[in-house]
Amino acid sequence: MKRLPELFENNRKWALSVEKSRPAFFKTLAKQQKPDYLWIGCSDSRVPADQIVGLLPGQLFVHRNVSNLVVHTDMNCLTVIQYAIDVLKVRHVIVCGHYGCGGVTAALEDKNNGLIDNWLRHIKDIHAFHQDELKKYRDKKKLVNRLCELNVIRQVHNVCHTTILMDAWARGQDVSVHGWIYDVEDGLLKDLGVCADRKQDYCKSWRW
Ligand code: CO
Repeated sequence: MKRLPELFENNRKWALSVEKSRPAFFKTLAKQQKPDYLWIGCSDSRVPADQIVGLLPGQLFVHRNVSNLVVHTDMNCLTVIQYAIDVLKVRHVIVCGHYGCGGVTAALEDKNNGLIDNWLRHIKDIHAFHQDELKKYRDKKKLVNRLCELNVIRQVHNVCHTTILMDAWARGQDVSVHGWIYDVEDGLLKDLGVCADRKQDYCKSWRW
């Protein structure tokens, strides 16, 4: 039986180094979590949420799935958003996609990948919705990357339209929704400029 001892060894070293630089870190954190941010990102191993933004355990509440989708009826994702907004009272929801996303690339291809193709239908819908703009792209990489951006913008919109965000804003809760994209080629984040602080923001300025 393989028990992955190297990962346990890594874990011991990591816990020791955190405790050394911040005495009683884990004991204090064990009492409660009070994150300010909810991160909705891709499962891609090259996009580790906490590390990218330099945050410690306890500072970022995280939901990740293939291609950072917020599907209207996905109870898993909705439950995370509801807990983050209603109970933890996070101040920011960050939808973060990344360039070169494998899910977005697969959605543009005509291959059979099995079950995941059903999930990727959501990205095909976004592609169809923006075909006037996207058909101008001759370069595959540029097309994938633009669709990655449009996917983030769509998912920000979907977060804003959940009953959770609409109810939070209706009762005056201070919470913003952001759309970011991460570049796996240089490790840098870009703000896509679709931040919403209240219902009017996404009703007025976005065409969906
Ligand atoms: Co991805």
